[in-house]
Amino acid sequence: MADKITITVTRRKLTEILIGLVALFFAGGALAAVLDYLWPKTEAKGESVEVKIATVDEVPTGTAKKFSFNGKAAVLLHMPAGFRAFGSVCTHLGCIAYWKPDENVIYCPCHIGKYDPNTGTVISGPPPSPLPSIDIIVKEGSVYALKWKDPNYVKSISFYAGAA
Ligand code: FES
Repeated sequence: MADKITITVTRRKLTEILIGLVALFFAGGALAAVLDYLWPKTEAKGESVEVKIATVDEVPTGTAKKFSFNGKAAVLLHMPAGFRAFGSVCTHLGCIAYWKPDENVIYCPCHIGKYDPNTGTVISGPPPSPLPSIDIIVKEGSVYALKWKDPNYVKSISFYAGAA
């Protein structure tokens, strides 16, 4: 003979339980965000990972491809001297810069900032510093992002810049 257990839950108690579960859900999300900031993922700490950006055929010489690296906007350029990758968040006020082939620059439309597509250095305009470089590797017909050259870059823009 099976034992029968009966649990009685009032409507008030059920509501309290549901509210508690919702609160727990949001508290967990906030805790995860705090932990992610305090102990960033491997690639955000400047350690090397391989993130496939594109196949070599996708980006012929003289063209570019936007991508996201560590959640930040970035651009892969195929210059005559080879592939280059930079974060594309403008170092002036955080607009997204892009490849402008007719001027051979990485261009920020907000205040006409221009960066060298080979080095990321500022050519003209108000940006105070170069675009951050991303180490890349080309192998087996694809281009992979490895890490930010400056491991402090991601933290420095975390609170005011978004992804592409
Ligand atoms: S935000 Fe790029 S030049 Fe001002």
